[in-house]
Amino acid sequence: MKVAILSGSVYGTAEEVARNAKQLLNAAGFEVLFNPRARLADIQAFAPDAFLAVTSTTGMGELPDNLTPLYSEIRDVLPAAWRGLPGAVIALGDSSYGDTYCGGGQLLTELFAELGLQEVQPMLTLDASESVTPESDSEPWLETLIKALSQ
Ligand SMILES: Cc1cc2nc3c(=O)[nH]c(=O)nc-3n(C[C@H](O)[C@H](O)[C@H](O)COP(=O)(O)O)c2cc1C
Repeated sequence: MKVAILSGSVYGTAEEVARNAKQLLNAAGFEVLFNPRARLADIQAFAPDAFLAVTSTTGMGELPDNLTPLYSEIRDVLPAAWRGLPGAVIALGDSSYGDTYCGGGQLLTELFAELGLQEVQPMLTLDASESVTPESDSEPWLETLIKALSQ
């Protein structure tokens, strides 16, 4: 099974979580596309069977700049071939931002719904004001995801 990781990061924390997810997915036998600068054409060429988004939040609940072009392209096209595929989202944020907490992940969750992806499991939120170990914090959730995708 081929998993495309959509990754958005300003300072690199979400990118490290995504890289760790790639390693776990690879170790479980999945083929993974992880390119923080990927565009729609790259993802379509990879022909994924499943999607994982890993993104932080910046501004006032916005997506990091590196993910915005891909997000816009996907929203404009909404590739029909992806309808019904499994998808899941990891959102990094900081609860001290209040209403915009994990807004980037919310945007990806909404995009996945517009695409008609199947939500494999509820979005994981990683709160920078609660923990400084987001990679290891994400691992139990990723193990559950791997089991779900393996069925
Ligand atoms: C300028 C700035 C704005 C931020 N805005 C938000 C926000 O609106 N909501 C939120 O949940 N977190 C917000 N954050 C927190 C980051 O999403 C969080 O620290 C995250 O772990 C950073 O991941 P990154 O290194 O991948 O960018 C903001 C951080 C910065 C520096």
